[in-house]
Amino acid sequence: MASQITITKLISMKQKGEKIVALTAYDYPFAKIVDECGVHLILVGDSVGNVVQGEANTLPVTMDQMIYHTRMVTRAAGSALVVGDMPFMSYQVSIKNAIKNAGRFLKEAAAAAIKLEGGTAVIETIKAISSVGIPVQAHIGLTPQSVHQMGGYKVQRDEDRLMTDALEVEAAGAFSVVLEGIPSVIAQKITKALSIPTIGIGAGPDCDGQILVLHDLLGLNDRHLPKFVKQYARLIDAAKAGISEYVDEVQTGKFPAEEHCY
Ligand code: KIV
Repeated sequence: MASQITITKLISMKQKGEKIVALTAYDYPFAKIVDECGVHLILVGDSVGNVVQGEANTLPVTMDQMIYHTRMVTRAAGSALVVGDMPFMSYQVSIKNAIKNAGRFLKEAAAAAIKLEGGTAVIETIKAISSVGIPVQAHIGLTPQSVHQMGGYKVQRDEDRLMTDALEVEAAGAFSVVLEGIPSVIAQKITKALSIPTIGIGAGPDCDGQILVLHDLLGLNDRHLPKFVKQYARLIDAAKAGISEYVDEVQTGKFPAEEHCY
């Protein structure tokens, strides 16, 4: 089995120029496959709202749902570092509430770290959570929990603001930062300026690592995919073919056959 990935390992991968591979997962069977394929970091993303719950965005996802999904993933993860994603309104109300909710990911779901969205606005929260020993991954650029404030899922292009956010989350103690939906050239400058690893999604090839939503990569849903997604499989087609065959065989009496009976 591969050795356990830790936050210090991720930082040393950046220093050595080794690419970090990250992917989301939300349940035991997929997390096991992802881990066994050598992915370094599994994010239990609040994208569970979009790709598992069928919601229009991530806003309805609750803390209890995130704990439920994160525990399934940590049971399956052998060597990957598991990061639990803090859902909307689990860290914005007060610092005390944010620490309490972040702690639940480690205490009840056995995650190794948490992720939260925002730059300058969440600096005090990042400081407070990391000061109690909980590693924090920041997430800047296109932050899906702010979909209404951004006026949709829009590429973020304000270089000064993005650079300030990145430098400030690093100074506040974040061990890594997700860069989402920003021009490659800005992501490249941020990656160079930081000593913590940048993990890109729609941020070009120069980030220290990449992340995608598992269901998008595997073609498990027929939802609209952003330009930055590469679909590596079409599991929806394989699933539909298998289920249609089952429907047909039950209706025609072909299943169950002799070998399936006692
Ligand atoms: O929720 C999520 O899956 C994420 C990743 C896309 C970075 O935040």
